[in-house]
Amino acid sequence: MSQGPSILGIETSCDETAAAVVRGRRVLSNVVASQVPVHARYGGVVPELASRNHLLAVLPAVERAFERAGLAPDALDAIAVTRGPGLIGSLLVGYQTAAALARVWGLPLVPIDHVEAHICAVHLDPPPGDAPAGAPTDPPYVALVASGGHTALYLVRDFGRQDVLGHTLDDAAGEAFDKIAKMLGLPYPGGVAIERSARAGRADAWRFPRALLGPSSLDFSFSGLKTAVRYALRDAFGAEPPGGTDLADVCAAAQEAIVDVLVEKAARAVRATGLGRVVLAGGVAANARLRERMVERGEQEGFDVVLTPLAYCTDNAAMVAGLAARLVETRGLDAWRDAPLRADVYANLACGTPRTVRARTP
Ligand code: KG4
Ligand code: ZN
Repeated sequence: MSQGPSILGIETSCDETAAAVVRGRRVLSNVVASQVPVHARYGGVVPELASRNHLLAVLPAVERAFERAGLAPDALDAIAVTRGPGLIGSLLVGYQTAAALARVWGLPLVPIDHVEAHICAVHLDPPPGDAPAGAPTDPPYVALVASGGHTALYLVRDFGRQDVLGHTLDDAAGEAFDKIAKMLGLPYPGGVAIERSARAGRADAWRFPRALLGPSSLDFSFSGLKTAVRYALRDAFGAEPPGGTDLADVCAAAQEAIVDVLVEKAARAVRATGLGRVVLAGGVAANARLRERMVERGEQEGFDVVLTPLAYCTDNAAMVAGLAARLVETRGLDAWRDAPLRADVYANLACGTPRTVRARTP
């Protein structure tokens, strides 16, 4: 294990079937079998379709991950798998697969929290040409995780150990992007489509609300923005979504409203904790405008902004294996020696709320 433990990661919490092999901080392979075409026609993820497609895609993804890594299963030290939060049926497919492989190959199984994995993605060696600003030094730091299912700020004390500083009271930031995109007739996933269209738009063409929830709140709320966009569209364009520059302007203005809130709250969290560093993670952290505005704010206020490499922002299994590698390095393999075939997975519908919706593998 001189270069760190070799770990197979499996991630099936939502609509991407992902498998990856890492050695320490090095990503040897990172396979993401996207289900976007399956769900795009419904404008969002259909849970039952997601689990069924995970069943079909998970073993081929694992095989491809070994092939690309140039490694055989006997070179592994452990298998890591996402245990939650996510869609229960989807999680069960990944968990059962990982537990079965661990049992067959006699390997320890490391269950991983999806949000903790998003945060830890920043510690993976970036792919060539994708090295972002900021040095990924070890915790403590503040982390902003903004994705389709979660938006929250954390005080990260150590790998896989953090306190919630604030979380969304309703929609996640990515969910806001996705829902606004749907209203505009743009394809799923909405964040990507809005970012693309916003490049040609004017962010000040519309003034959408920013829910700051009081001067010191670190919580988020995006449902008011969604409603404001809905009424603005109805009043200005009737039943037909806008096109051309009108569409670009709405996209730019909505994106700016979301980015303003994320940047402001992250800056508040840095001030409140006295930690001079914020890590930006999750699917929405791929947004170029958010990355640019966050770095600007850090320069103005004198804190460091550490961006996750673009390839590791949206759901992937390298981040799952990467967190497991950190945990194995610090706690040793024995903690996970008796891989349980039965295990809880959890849905945790809104980040920071109790992990109430659970299921047990049969
Ligand atoms: O982390 P992720 O892949 O899955 C969850 O854990 O939810 O995040 C997916 C979310 C989607 O809502 C998608 O619209 C958003 O991330 N997203 C973006 C961008 N790329 C993905 N949002 C804004 N700008 C982007 N470039
Ligand atoms: Zn995610």
